[in-house]
Amino acid sequence: MNVFSPINIGDFSLRNRIVMAPMTRSRADAQGVILPLAAEYYGARADAGLIISEGIAPSAMGLGYARSPGIYNDAQIAAWRKVTNAVHARGGTIFAQIMHVGRITHSANRTIPDAPVAPSAIRAAGQMWTDAQGMQPNDMPRALELSEIPSVIYEYAQATRNALAAGFDGVELHSASGYLPNQFLSTSANHRTDAYGGSSENRIRFVVETATAMIAAAGSSGRVGMKLSPGMKFNDIADEDPLPTFIALAKAYAALKPAYLHVMRTGIGSETVLREAFAGTLLVGGGFKKEEADQTLAAGKADAIVFGSTYVANPDLVKRFEKNAPLNAPDQASFYTPGAKGYTDYPLL
Ligand SMILES: Cc1cc2nc3c(=O)[nH]c(=O)nc-3n(C[C@H](O)[C@H](O)[C@H](O)COP(=O)(O)O)c2cc1C
Repeated sequence: MNVFSPINIGDFSLRNRIVMAPMTRSRADAQGVILPLAAEYYGARADAGLIISEGIAPSAMGLGYARSPGIYNDAQIAAWRKVTNAVHARGGTIFAQIMHVGRITHSANRTIPDAPVAPSAIRAAGQMWTDAQGMQPNDMPRALELSEIPSVIYEYAQATRNALAAGFDGVELHSASGYLPNQFLSTSANHRTDAYGGSSENRIRFVVETATAMIAAAGSSGRVGMKLSPGMKFNDIADEDPLPTFIALAKAYAALKPAYLHVMRTGIGSETVLREAFAGTLLVGGGFKKEEADQTLAAGKADAIVFGSTYVANPDLVKRFEKNAPLNAPDQASFYTPGAKGYTDYPLL
């Protein structure tokens, strides 16, 4: 068993266990329409077993970063169609990562004037980039009313239908990195006293209901995955004891028979704990090189390995792994800048 071993994930037979991580690249227009260059960028990486797209907003409310894309109107869907066509033309498989930012946003990055929504009215510490005003503190969110939660879940279901209409093979629920679902999971961001806050059972409710709705919208559980980053403090998430919550979530999620669970390693060993708790296909990412990826697969600690920044810099990563060829180093300065530089100009072997 190694990174080149074929694998079935959900409804798909994949030619290897090399997964391209979801990575925001800030190459959409100000209305959340992904730009044509993205077809070249993703198409060049189509020999990955699976590509997971950058985070894509399910609604204008869920859009938070400068030049990040959405999938809630016809122009956005049509633009994504060019990307999925490019990947499919080369025999690839691509899931759309559905990302609602919740409280991680600033008004200068948004297309609507409404205050952001979150489980509770607690502002996240930290700043984010805006093209108009430079670095700005995250906006103060308002707490979702209990009666509004079904409409937010509906946005995820509609985004799932839109993603499939755009030609994506499946969707990934982004419940990591401090965005809306992770805000519900966390004791620091979720101070609700209703059925969506308090106990672990209540804090996982939003995520489980959202995954359930996405599966119903997709028409097959084998087209829906989810990403978690237990213990990650990014975006002002603090949880004194995260593992029990994530174990409860992994078990409830496994019962839905999803395509996969994707865990980002954060240094607290959650990938080992969740391997035990989650009866299903496990994708693990975070700082992997080929050698460790092969060892992790051979030891049965994961079913596929997710590569992030390495994939930014190496469109032909699969070929480089096959030949044990040297890798290009990623240029962090161009991760989120507009245009082709650092996006589609990394050299091939
Ligand atoms: C430029 C960049 C953008 C990212 N954007 C996202 C994102 O939109 N959604 C997400 O779940 N993770 C995002 N991540 C995290 C990656 O998916 C991955 O978990 C992380 O980079 C660790 O893997 P690595 O060490 O192989 O890079 C991003 C990472 C990078 C480098």
